[in-house]
Amino acid sequence: MAGENGIEVRGLVREYRKGPRAVDGIDLSVAPGEIYGFLGPNGAGKSTTVHMLTTLLPPTAGAALVAGYDIVRQGPQVRAHIGAALQEAALDPLLTGREHLRLQTALHGMSRSDRKRRGDELLARVGLVEAADRKVGGYSGGMKRRLDLALALVHSPEILFLDEPTTGLDVQSRTALWVETGRLAKEEGVTVFLTTQYLEEADVLADRVGIIDHGRIVAEGRPSVLKAEIGRPTVEVIPADPADSARVASVLEQIGELISSPKGVAVRLRSNEADLAEVVRALDAADLRVEHLQLHQPSLDDVFLAKTGRSLEGAGEEEEEVAAEVALEPA
Ligand SMILES: Nc1ncnc2c1ncn2[C@@H]1O[C@H](COP(=O)(O)OP(=O)(O)O)[C@@H](O)[C@H]1O
Ligand SMILES: [Mg+2]
Repeated sequence: MAGENGIEVRGLVREYRKGPRAVDGIDLSVAPGEIYGFLGPNGAGKSTTVHMLTTLLPPTAGAALVAGYDIVRQGPQVRAHIGAALQEAALDPLLTGREHLRLQTALHGMSRSDRKRRGDELLARVGLVEAADRKVGGYSGGMKRRLDLALALVHSPEILFLDEPTTGLDVQSRTALWVETGRLAKEEGVTVFLTTQYLEEADVLADRVGIIDHGRIVAEGRPSVLKAEIGRPTVEVIPADPADSARVASVLEQIGELISSPKGVAVRLRSNEADLAEVVRALDAADLRVEHLQLHQPSLDDVFLAKTGRSLEGAGEEEEEVAAEVALEPA
């Protein structure tokens, strides 16, 4: 089964006593040194999965090996090999960044001199040297998430779990975390299991992505492969003369299905092969002049749409409505 620093999950289920089947039988494997992006809307079951894999929550059914250890029967061994920065990270606003690190290194039983060295090293690594002696209560969101990361790295774990590490962060802080996470995987061979609601994050950072919805994995693979498999490219054309719109539409209809476009005419191509030349030739043959012609490659959102029938953006709100309905049912 699992490689030494990998993750292997089979038929994992978590049913909350008074809640939904939050994780509904998932299978996945993460190779050592890989960044696995677990992408899904609010309420999809991402945190529940992370809590099971980090041994904070027992599964209802199924099994998983983390770093080669069984999450149910070998909790202490699992915990010795992993680091986790979870969504509800408990930072003390009255302690400084350096004090947090001192506590965490002490918890891991490091000697006094190792504690200082490791603390300084991690503060530098996440860019918190200047803020190290300031109270965390005054930190920005991005600084707090970077401190979470440093704390998760104290014992040099082989596997790192990051639960929505960049949710709510500005672009700059988000990018800084991406860079650091990428470096951990590429340079130090750390295996990363990262959850996110952000398509771009999964796309940019993850070697492989699992898309989760309603507790099930609906698609899995390398982002580029997923996009090529499911999402088809679209072509948008703005005619030089707006009066030509109808004629442009009738030409494009031959190539794919027309879709709405705010400014011009757009079509979703029938095949994955983006054949712009075909579009240009067809327009030319009809003697139509074009002001603007653009190819849109499919995104992970197209993949999500194809698998679930809705867009990832906003899917979480819909989920919350469903959850509210469930809560209203008599027990
Ligand atoms: N402690 C709990 N008790 C009951 N239901 C829960 C609990 N935690 C989460 N849920 C429900 O389980 C589902 C998955 O939640 P979660 O794993 O937190 O999703 P995500 O992290 O993807 O937003 C949601 O419907 C949520 O409301
Ligand atoms: Mg969550």
